[in-house]
Amino acid sequence: MTTRESLPSWQQLIKHSQAMKSRHMNDLFEANDNRFNDFSIQLPSMLLDYSKNLITEETLNLLLKLADECQVESWRDKMFAGEHINKTEDRAVLHTLLRDSTNEPFIVDGHNVKDSIRTALKQMQLFTENVRQGKWRGYSGKRITDIVNIGVGGSNLGPQMVTEALKQYSDDSVNVHYVSNVDGTQIANVLRPLNPENVLFIVSSKTFTTTETMTNAQTAMQWLVASSFDAEAISKHFVAVSSNKKNAIEFGIAAENIFDMWDWVGGRFSLWSAIGLPIALDLGFDKFIELLDGAFETDCHFKQAPLAENAPVILALLSVWNCTFLGAQSQAILPYDQSLHMLSAYLQQAEMESNGKSVSWHGEEISYATVPSIWGELGINGQHAFYQYLHQSNNIVPADFIGSINSVTPVKGHHETLMANFFAQTQALMQGVNEEQVRADLKAKGRTADYIDKVAPHKVHKGNRPTNTILMKQISPKSLGSLIALYEHKIFVQGIILQICSFDQWGVELGKGLANKIQQELMTQNINTKHDSSTQGLIDFYMNQG
Ligand code: F6P
Repeated sequence: MTTRESLPSWQQLIKHSQAMKSRHMNDLFEANDNRFNDFSIQLPSMLLDYSKNLITEETLNLLLKLADECQVESWRDKMFAGEHINKTEDRAVLHTLLRDSTNEPFIVDGHNVKDSIRTALKQMQLFTENVRQGKWRGYSGKRITDIVNIGVGGSNLGPQMVTEALKQYSDDSVNVHYVSNVDGTQIANVLRPLNPENVLFIVSSKTFTTTETMTNAQTAMQWLVASSFDAEAISKHFVAVSSNKKNAIEFGIAAENIFDMWDWVGGRFSLWSAIGLPIALDLGFDKFIELLDGAFETDCHFKQAPLAENAPVILALLSVWNCTFLGAQSQAILPYDQSLHMLSAYLQQAEMESNGKSVSWHGEEISYATVPSIWGELGINGQHAFYQYLHQSNNIVPADFIGSINSVTPVKGHHETLMANFFAQTQALMQGVNEEQVRADLKAKGRTADYIDKVAPHKVHKGNRPTNTILMKQISPKSLGSLIALYEHKIFVQGIILQICSFDQWGVELGKGLANKIQQELMTQNINTKHDSSTQGLIDFYMNQG
């Protein structure tokens, strides 16, 4: 038994969850007219309604007791204080410092880290303004019109998700493109319409060792040099963001074109650093700062609000409740705002790379279910694709519905339709419709008894499917920053409750190592015959049929 399982609250929650499994949310709503007020939290730029979960006041109290017994507040304070809570890598976790606009110093080894952050922000601002105002010129003297960000995972998903979400706030000073895949099709498609004279590449890689990114960057350099006939051109068209300056310089990036990163910023939490350069280039530096301010607002809420009113804490506890205690295995992210179309892809990395683990921070095997698989799509598109499954399959998929009161791009008649669906879907998932209601409805529509007998079972929706609703005032740089930080802190608390090291990612290493070896074999055509027969057969087929 892990230390978590031996906590009194854990044992009480197991017992309580057995009792709750036979309850229906319809009855809980009937029994308490005040459920919405009891189970919702208002933040400056959004409302979180979590009343449509299979919880009672007793559930919430037990979950809060769990948070207390897991010392969530003390762990949170340790994170903000810069303690090395990333145990396996012996690092601090301080992405929150990047958006802390207070003048309070943060001293490490006698040095105020806030000064380094301010210097880095100044460097970003200067660079951003130079490019956007056309002062930074390419090798032939032309202004930069297109930015190509080369990076993958945390060096791609955050910036790209934000760029997509804030498109309406871009003044089109530059066009921003992203290349993450080592499949040459992507970079070829991105570069085809571009003129090298106008393009600036950002090679984003914390480690500067990621094969996919290095391969794409190499191709981009060759493309540039093929056009300029001059290796000197690289300094006018390539910048890098990395904590590995040495590798970046060896790769051919001019030292003065390298933006620093710190080891206390994890890749998937790094969009607040210079990894966010493409965001700043696209929107202007002021809006990048608004994004940071929004995140800071949520940081303050996370630090100050009592656990019972603390939105990220509640989201984390509900995830643990739904998955570990009630048995859900996946979680859908369903934005009803076109701007957020990449949110589920972003949260996939944020949550699954952080907490998709099965060993506790003491190195013990974890037998309880940890985090769900995260997936999702824009809600309306999902309705016409996989909502059938959400409503009627025998797997319960808790879902986060995220919508906005005001559209960033109001088009007459659209928003009401969108939001009507947004409200209706969580209602339907919660209430369902029983056979008696189905039969009465079909009868009222004049259907024959035979038809009713045949069809009624298929039209039953059991309901009782948990959802959280996040209603944003409007997507803006600031509110988006708040939303992202909300999920970041949810993931942190989830990790603490489940006793998982949230800030490492050892699980990506094995595949990377094998791929490196196989790449050598493919390039030298010297295939190691010690592969298992499936891998060997596939490689042979690939080599012989190409
Ligand atoms: O392979 C996973 C990973 O290490 C992520 O954690 C990271 O965000 C991504 O690769 C990219 O890493 P880097 O920024 O070092 O290229």
